Amino acid sequence: MQHDIYIAPSILSADFLHLGDELADIATADLVHYDVMDGHFTANITYGQFVLAQLKKATDLPIDVHLMVNNPEDAVPLFIEAGADIINFHWEAQTHAHRLVQQIREAGRKAAITLNPATPVSVLESIVDDLDMVLLMSVNPGYGGQKFIESTYAKTRALRRMCNEHRVNPRIEIDGGVGAGNAEALVAAGADTLVAGSGVFKHADRAAAIAELRAAGERGRLVNA
Ligand code: DX5
Ligand code: ZN
Repeated sequence: MQHDIYIAPSILSADFLHLGDELADIATADLVHYDVMDGHFTANITYGQFVLAQLKKATDLPIDVHLMVNNPEDAVPLFIEAGADIINFHWEAQTHAHRLVQQIREAGRKAAITLNPATPVSVLESIVDDLDMVLLMSVNPGYGGQKFIESTYAKTRALRRMCNEHRVNPRIEIDGGVGAGNAEALVAAGADTLVAGSGVFKHADRAAAIAELRAAGERGRLVNA
């Protein structure tokens, strides 16, 4: 079923020894958020394209790959090959954003650009028309379970304003410290896609956590209706 608000659990907070079971547990979500860290753009290292190729066999949900890597132009072909449905690369890590977006779209995948908390949305002015999604980081990338940065609300509103001015409607995704407590306000500010790592996987009942996030998001949508 297609929802208005997309919930994207981040498997960074899942039990890696039981990823198949963890995926089954989040079947009511809309996307699987897949955090790739390279030990350079972030200090941590997570998982890469081989694990993704296996996950693709275990879920029907689209995989939302979040590349927290330097030189994303080297990684993008690997993740296209492994079956990524959406590819997010960081504005701060790239040199030829437009070329990379074209490459992702020519492969039939959805292209998204991610902004760190300190990067203003104005950098997207010349490329927002070509994006399927924009990901605003609401923590500094690198770890799950961090505290949400409050200035994300204003940034989300600024991005929604820019999209309206351009008459485009990429999905606006928020990542980091998202939970039932801020989902409503984020959607009211203009977001429509919510990543939650600890906000889903720290709960024993993942379906309930997803439903709670979705309900909070839907309340936020009513504010804009
Ligand atoms: C952080 C990652 C996030 C992380 C979110 O660098 O990009 O996707 O998993 O985790 P929570 O929801 O626990 O803040
Ligand atoms: Zn992420």
